[in-house]
Amino acid sequence: MKGLLKFITCGSVDDGKSTLIGHMLYDAKLLFADQEKALELESKVGSRAGEIDYSLLLDGLTAEREQGITIDVAYRYFTTEKRSFIVADTPGHEEYTRNMAVGASYADLAIILADATKGIVPQTKRHARICSLMGIKHFILAINKMDLVGFDQKRFQAIKDEFLQMTYQMNLDGIQVIPVSATNGDNITTHSTNTLWYKGPALLPYLEKIDTHTEEAQEEFILPIQRVSRPNHDFRGFQGQVAAGGIRIGDELMVLPSKEKANVTSILTTDQTTERAHYGKPVTIQLNREVDVSRGCVLTTSDQIHVTDMFTATLLWMDDTELIEGRNYLIKLGTLTLPGTVMSIKHKIDINTGKEIPSDRIFKNELITCDISLAEKAVFDTFAHNKTLGSFILIDRVSNTTSACGIIKYPLRRSTNVIWQETDVSQEIRAKQKQQTPLTIWFTGLSGSGKSTLANEVEKRLVTLGHHTMLLDGDNVRHGLNKDLGFKEGDRVENIRRIAEVAKLMNEAGLITIASFISPYQNDRQQANDIIGSKYIEIYVSTPLEECEKRDVKGLYQKARAGEIPNFTGISSPYEVPVQPHLTIDTSEYSIEEATELILKAVLEAVQT
Ligand code: ADX
Repeated sequence: MKGLLKFITCGSVDDGKSTLIGHMLYDAKLLFADQEKALELESKVGSRAGEIDYSLLLDGLTAEREQGITIDVAYRYFTTEKRSFIVADTPGHEEYTRNMAVGASYADLAIILADATKGIVPQTKRHARICSLMGIKHFILAINKMDLVGFDQKRFQAIKDEFLQMTYQMNLDGIQVIPVSATNGDNITTHSTNTLWYKGPALLPYLEKIDTHTEEAQEEFILPIQRVSRPNHDFRGFQGQVAAGGIRIGDELMVLPSKEKANVTSILTTDQTTERAHYGKPVTIQLNREVDVSRGCVLTTSDQIHVTDMFTATLLWMDDTELIEGRNYLIKLGTLTLPGTVMSIKHKIDINTGKEIPSDRIFKNELITCDISLAEKAVFDTFAHNKTLGSFILIDRVSNTTSACGIIKYPLRRSTNVIWQETDVSQEIRAKQKQQTPLTIWFTGLSGSGKSTLANEVEKRLVTLGHHTMLLDGDNVRHGLNKDLGFKEGDRVENIRRIAEVAKLMNEAGLITIASFISPYQNDRQQANDIIGSKYIEIYVSTPLEECEKRDVKGLYQKARAGEIPNFTGISSPYEVPVQPHLTIDTSEYSIEEATELILKAVLEAVQT
């Protein structure tokens, strides 16, 4: 019996995906008797009025039946005498691209449905491209509703030719094009007499036979470490799922990133010891030497795996909001999750033609090529060499949702030529000399909320107390260091990033930094916190917009209302309220002295802890 086959079905709403799979199960007698009965009964009231509606079989989700569309990825398991299958049934609508990408990332093969009456439509092209992006190397194009075009061979051939031409550059291992009728069952489980001109296999026999795992036993071994198991002093095992190749007891492995070498002394799968382990298996491995291994490390026999902090990737953007260059995300890469930044967007990829188009604005469901920089060095691979270590997702740090999925094209070595220079006078010495604990007090809030006034007062008080300080203020920094930046989202991201780096340098110089910036996006404040580290204290000046507008010290709100200032925070550009500030102060409720007192109290507490 062949191994498990994981496949995905993709098609537009009315292409007949569910009917196709349903029919396959029905014909292959994979139904229980009572299921069959229920199907007949339901079909009496179903959309096919009296005839069996095979799609009912697959409707795990009632919403699909109510709305006529599948709303999530539904995984179904079935087995024939020859093979077991898991099928991911995903919605075809463009707005559900995310689900499709998720389903595709698990699959070894894609069945792409086309409607013989419509031919290849933009959806077909999009589905093929996403499946290929997610690493699927085997496609079946099922040209459905052949009964509606009189099983016309010419029609079939024309659609097939167009599909082959389109997928030509996708570097696939196999494409099978099959003429079918999902409702009538032609070429689903057996060869149809309606298509005698078609010499290929029917769908199910093809699925039972196909070999999608091309990787050979001699392939290099890759094990991304998920966990280090240490139940007692004598046992130290490295656990993970084998991402490529095989291993035997005695083999020499390299540990990445440390590059230490060691030999395998034992292999455990679940609770049993074994001589060898191979691709796909969860294992625990013991080594003959003490080595430096933690989650995110990789044990391998390959010398092609990279350890660096930058790469070029193809990204499928799935977030409702626009992608902004310079924004920071959590990147889940193999078994590791770490902060990373989308650097330069190189170009957009036309989903229909595969052509590269220059573009600096990226919206939901678009494919792009960009550079990504990681907060620290990580172990990864190119997608072409290894799917597991070469693919990643970007997680929004505020909403915790998946914003994008991507594959690594190649590593960038630029950063490895810049080496950190250690200096003799350390940060600690600089701080000690000033007799203080350096930190950054970060004020955020609307324009006119009172940030600068409070920042000024706090600095005065600290200086009076004998502290050494530096104040960075939005308007002032924009006269110098950031005079090239405006107020579009991308500019603000870069504004805050630079300020955070400066604040960090000031802290390293031993100073208490006071930063006063609107900093309207939670993501960017989070990034500032990451850059500055634990020495970051966030003060949210929460004075309401109406009050700020009433004060209008600089006359900017009036101009913004008159449409003279674009992207004005609170009027035509958003302000995201801080999630967990150390302190919130509404200056319409406190006098300056009271507010300053509160801030100093919070700061002094933080300095002492
Ligand atoms: S931030 O959003 O990037 O953090 P920053 O604090 O540096 O802004 O600068 C804000 C100051 O720039 C405001 O106090 C205001 O004086 C001025 N300004 C000019 N145009 C705008 C605008 N469109 N939105 C907000 N502030 C503006």
